[in-house]
Amino acid sequence: MIFEEIEKLLNESAKKIGIDEKISVGFSNLPKICDFQSNACFSLAKKYGKNPFELAQNIVDNINNTEDFIFEVALPAFINIKLTDHKLEKIADEYLKDERGGLPKLNNKQKVILDYGGANVAKALHVGHLRPAIIGESLKRLYKLLGEEVISDVHLGDWGLQMGLTELELFQEGKLDYYFGKSSTENTITLDDLNYAYPKASIRKNQEEDFRKTAEEWTYKIQNKEQPYYDIFKIIREISVKEIKKNYSSLGAEFDLWYGESDASDYIPETLKIIKDKGLARESEGAVVVDVAIDGENIPIPKKNNDEPQRYSNPMPPCIIEKSNGAVLYATTDIATILMRNKMFKDVSRIEYVADGRQQLHFTQVFRVSKMAGISPENQKLLYIGHGTINGKDGKPFKTRSGDTIKLEDIIDMLVKKAGEKLTANGVKFDRELALKIGVSAMKFGDLINNVDKDYIFDLDRFMSFEGKTGPYLQYTAVRINSILNKVKDCKEGAFIVDNDDEREIIKNIIKLNSSYEICYKNKTLAPLCLATYNLASAFSTFYNNHNVINEKDEKIKRSFISLLRLVKNKLKQALETLAIEIPQKM
Ligand code: ARG
Repeated sequence: MIFEEIEKLLNESAKKIGIDEKISVGFSNLPKICDFQSNACFSLAKKYGKNPFELAQNIVDNINNTEDFIFEVALPAFINIKLTDHKLEKIADEYLKDERGGLPKLNNKQKVILDYGGANVAKALHVGHLRPAIIGESLKRLYKLLGEEVISDVHLGDWGLQMGLTELELFQEGKLDYYFGKSSTENTITLDDLNYAYPKASIRKNQEEDFRKTAEEWTYKIQNKEQPYYDIFKIIREISVKEIKKNYSSLGAEFDLWYGESDASDYIPETLKIIKDKGLARESEGAVVVDVAIDGENIPIPKKNNDEPQRYSNPMPPCIIEKSNGAVLYATTDIATILMRNKMFKDVSRIEYVADGRQQLHFTQVFRVSKMAGISPENQKLLYIGHGTINGKDGKPFKTRSGDTIKLEDIIDMLVKKAGEKLTANGVKFDRELALKIGVSAMKFGDLINNVDKDYIFDLDRFMSFEGKTGPYLQYTAVRINSILNKVKDCKEGAFIVDNDDEREIIKNIIKLNSSYEICYKNKTLAPLCLATYNLASAFSTFYNNHNVINEKDEKIKRSFISLLRLVKNKLKQALETLAIEIPQKM
């Protein structure tokens, strides 16, 4: 694309003076002075024993005539490149005609399984489930947009102790009498029952040794598919999944597969057999473990605060795959899931996991066992994308005033309320759907603009502002463009005429926006796309403040404006779709 075009001109010129090397070009560090720059002459001069400035000048002097670019040399030996207005018009025209708006696809299309979401059955979704859903959904859309085949799997947590705990608690409250043959009237278990039972059981397990032990036995019985434990598990799962689906759909997260840990259970015997047959397993205090440490490895222990010196534990602890009572663990289901995925889908190039940054050890162990056992083929990439936490204004993990974890449902209500207030203040009638779209976009953008591995502060007032780097600002810009285009819908678009800085800025920002997708892809973050989208919206606002599109008298200029608006609209739409931010009808 544009980089290649410029590089080609430079390479051809260098070749003429006997330098047959690839000369690379990047965006300019000083956008006020030029659009692109090449720093190649510094190292080339060394290699060829030449004066760097003279070399740069020589290359520029030998460039084939072009009406698209202006090449200049700047001290000490930079080659500065500017796009001519003619070139900007050509690019804008090409992007407007192309259904992808000039965004290239990747050359090596891969099949990817993206594991994100990770809600736990029987437990209410909470603030901790926001980030994997938001980040995972956008990464999925990004990969797809760039041409990859992506299968998304929610990987519900449904095979752990919480299931035994919840069932035992419900049983002791008499809610399972029917299933245990103690009553002839069928119990109806409700979501409220679950929301009450799990938190209570979770407290009891720490206070009552007997309760915890029995819950562990029940968990084992569920995993062994014993009745009635297993049937009750299925009922609880169904109630819970219905609620989980509702919550994820409010967030705009869509999954191809609604599998859980339990779906890997059929693959657990085979998984354990492979590991044992390969001689990887050993017994340790009744449990079965796999040693995964690598010679000389140091594992950083998470710091309690930044001032603390970094400490290490060495070596990495073994991965426990079977407990002494025969129950399997989180790691076992994850390894079995890799086996299942490779049986269900052929030639999976990558399996990526978006999960809490504190699960690093878990994933390292799971990946190592899977590779050692050959469950994940050698050429398959297993990647853990660990995210930071959402903190409150005090810098500590976001909690309710009473110190409890905040439920996802409460967060969604909070977003709707805040967005509703904003809308009312702007004179728009309250509408829940609309408020939800704006609220969710505020939260998503507030999240995605941060690097994935960093913590950030949940500051709803800031996220919700209609100005600045926020989701609502981008939505507002898109809504505004749509409304202008609607007002001039009888007027046709026409050839681009670029003759002022506001228009130049828009087109240059679109070029940058297009190239931000690949940076996101490489670095597994959406932050560059967020920033580039904001920069485009902001360039558009400047343009719109300085030009009266609707009342422009000159027909040719008006038509060029309309083309520009269409292009900006297309590019904003593509970016917001990738960020899973919906554009409302009005705002
Ligand atoms: N259910 C897990 C949790 O809440 C997250 C699951 C992440 N994905 C995975 N394949 N382990 O912590």
